[in-house]
Amino acid sequence: MANVARKLLVDIHSHVYLPRYAALLRSRSTAPRIKTLAPSGEERLLILDNEPSGGRPVGPQYWDRDEKLKFMNQHGIDVTVVSTANPWLDFLGPSEAIELAEKLNEDLEEYCATSPVIPASKSTPDPSGDTLRRIYAFGLLPLVPGIPSDALIESISKIRTLPHVRGIILGTQGLGKGLDDPQLDSLWAAISDAGLVVFLHPHYGVDSNAWGEKDNGHVLPLALGFPFETTVATTRLILAGVLDRHPALKLLLAHSGGALPALSSRLSSCITHDPVVASRLKHDARHYLGKLYLDAVAYGPEELGFASDVIGRAGSYSASPEVLPMTLEEKRSKGAKQMLFGTDHPFFPPLSTQEKWQSVTENLKAINEVQGWSEQDRDGVRGGNAVRLFGL
Ligand code: URA
Ligand code: ZN
Repeated sequence: MANVARKLLVDIHSHVYLPRYAALLRSRSTAPRIKTLAPSGEERLLILDNEPSGGRPVGPQYWDRDEKLKFMNQHGIDVTVVSTANPWLDFLGPSEAIELAEKLNEDLEEYCATSPVIPASKSTPDPSGDTLRRIYAFGLLPLVPGIPSDALIESISKIRTLPHVRGIILGTQGLGKGLDDPQLDSLWAAISDAGLVVFLHPHYGVDSNAWGEKDNGHVLPLALGFPFETTVATTRLILAGVLDRHPALKLLLAHSGGALPALSSRLSSCITHDPVVASRLKHDARHYLGKLYLDAVAYGPEELGFASDVIGRAGSYSASPEVLPMTLEEKRSKGAKQMLFGTDHPFFPPLSTQEKWQSVTENLKAINEVQGWSEQDRDGVRGGNAVRLFGL
């Protein structure tokens, strides 16, 4: 493990479609797909259910590592932990998913292992000679309907051998019945055992009938549908007792956990008043939020501050409270240790040419402006927490 001598800016929410994956999307005639427009030759990404507005422009920023590094350099990002963007392998059959997961994980390892090293002024190699690189990755699992548990466990074993792959990105479909499926219990155990970070990321949103008929571009599915999908999936994991059975599982939620921080006391109350679940869990629902890591992709200081309060207060809700009582600043500072800077690159590019992307500068500004976070808390969110969580 490299010993980091200086403060690093680490982006833990940054996507790729590696060339092998982009080629698969190009070969398809139904979504998810990349389609070429005639006569310009421009490409469009069609991945969402009834993709609004004819899809989104897609280009080398998704597959060319030099473009990723250029973006990192433009924004002062030292290290990025890349993940394949949605919808991962969700749409494939088991044998295709197994084969592609293995190849893409190897591609990811190479993408990282041959990325530049962090200059000596920013890190010192440890005695084993490990060198901190610019890019690390979340791997992919062939988590699709019909896949046998053994194949998933085998995939985790292979990922463990890839030194620059430090976690896995997961959508919410599981084996077709969501992540609270009891059949996934051996997978949670294997992930937890391997110490891999699970990056839980949305794709499906919510029923698109909720969006009405007006063309609002991608705003409703991305601003509301995505975070609500994460909210529901995480709540179902909590309700299924996954976090009771696997307390060491490191779950990192996209988009600052969606609506979960705002709804966790309501969730707790609904559980308390429901005869089916009232005695199912070991702790108050709010306790489990303290087990989570959230990306800091919320775009506003108030939202980041609030999310850190809720994460930070969770200890007071454990069956045997760890911390009582806490001031607002203590909660905020405790919660900040579980929040990590991200960009969602290459999604959300500026609509007009700009040197720096608003989707990046706004998140950095938000981290700078959270009331009650110390400089140390901010440094942690910008990179120190990622260094610890991913063992960089
Ligand atoms: N849109 C997507 O489809 N995925 C993301 O991660 C962000 C925006
Ligand atoms: Zn994302």
